[in-house]
Amino acid sequence: MDHNRVIIFDTTLRDGEQSPGASMNLEEKVRIALVLEEMGVDVIEAGFPIASNGDFEAVEAVAKAVRNSVICGLARATRGDIERCAAAIKPAASGRIHTFLSTSPLHMKYKLQMEPEKVLEKVAESVAYARSLTDDVEWSAEDGSRTEHDFLCRCVEAAIKSGARTINIPDTVGYAVPDEYAALIEMLFNRVPNIDKAVISVHCHNDLGLAVANSLAAVGKGARQIECTINGLGERAGNAAMEEIVMALRTRPDRMPFKTGIKTENITKASRLVSTITGFVVQPNKAIVGKNAFAHESGIHQDGVLKHAQTYEIMTPDSVGLHRSHLVMGKHSGRAAFKAKLKELGYDLGDNAVEDAFNRFKDLADRKKDVFDEDIVALVDDAVVRG
Ligand code: KIV
Ligand code: ZN
Repeated sequence: MDHNRVIIFDTTLRDGEQSPGASMNLEEKVRIALVLEEMGVDVIEAGFPIASNGDFEAVEAVAKAVRNSVICGLARATRGDIERCAAAIKPAASGRIHTFLSTSPLHMKYKLQMEPEKVLEKVAESVAYARSLTDDVEWSAEDGSRTEHDFLCRCVEAAIKSGARTINIPDTVGYAVPDEYAALIEMLFNRVPNIDKAVISVHCHNDLGLAVANSLAAVGKGARQIECTINGLGERAGNAAMEEIVMALRTRPDRMPFKTGIKTENITKASRLVSTITGFVVQPNKAIVGKNAFAHESGIHQDGVLKHAQTYEIMTPDSVGLHRSHLVMGKHSGRAAFKAKLKELGYDLGDNAVEDAFNRFKDLADRKKDVFDEDIVALVDDAVVRG
């Protein structure tokens, strides 16, 4: 594979589903998976098969329905989890077992109540067992960003030796900052023997709003898989948002010369489907997919965009699957946008009539938060009737 190609691993159906209230049924998971496949996602993490019979069946159904993406299931470091996962992904054209174990002092002491040497033993054992059931095994060091470096290196080395093809270093609690996380990835490349035998993956949570920045910083140091979700869905504050990662790479190749296989024109469709199915409304000012991401209200901006879109747009609406940007008519709008709106609504008025309608529109915008096309039609028609 091209050295600058970044693998997009989508976990909307697994980590995304762990957002409280975002659970999806089998049919909904298959619908989303097909949209992810169509948009060119490399790996779809479809669920956690041991979690419930429903989740097992959903992973299995996704594995049957999707042909062009790798289908992955999550498993803890136990034989039962790994076997259940292997069974669920069996129908896939390409399947992956993703097994994980905590490696940070906090998690080992309080959550696992296990000594580090025992954890290390279990890493090797679980990865080797998963490899006995499938060729494609990913291993994650849960809470990797808060793990002591020497121990993390030993665990990663053991996982690679046992056959893991992908090594994931999650920032499980969204604690890392970009330069620190990038340095962690660089440290692994410098210190772990045979690290080039595996793809290094990142999985960042957004507790400090840094998930996308951390993921991109890690790619700059050699990570070549990013785990992310549509709309940034996921545990607590969510995961890195796929649309932000992909569009950042597409928009700034001068600073980040990396490619993905994502057809970015499918982003809006995927975002709307995930929002409709989960009931998680996308905030209006959300980057890339928020309803205001390509909307302009200030008169100065509207005038600029009408003259040349790039004055206030760094990517085209087409590139994310929107047909056009949107001039919002409000109290900050200027004459240029108002005239463009009149034209769009089919009016061809003389200068005096435009001026009259514009003044009345401004009065209305002072009183009313949202001025809709219908309001403009009403005030123009009224002006025409009044002569
Ligand atoms: O956040 C995390 O550490 C995870 C792992 C299971 C990969 O979701
Ligand atoms: Zn996670």
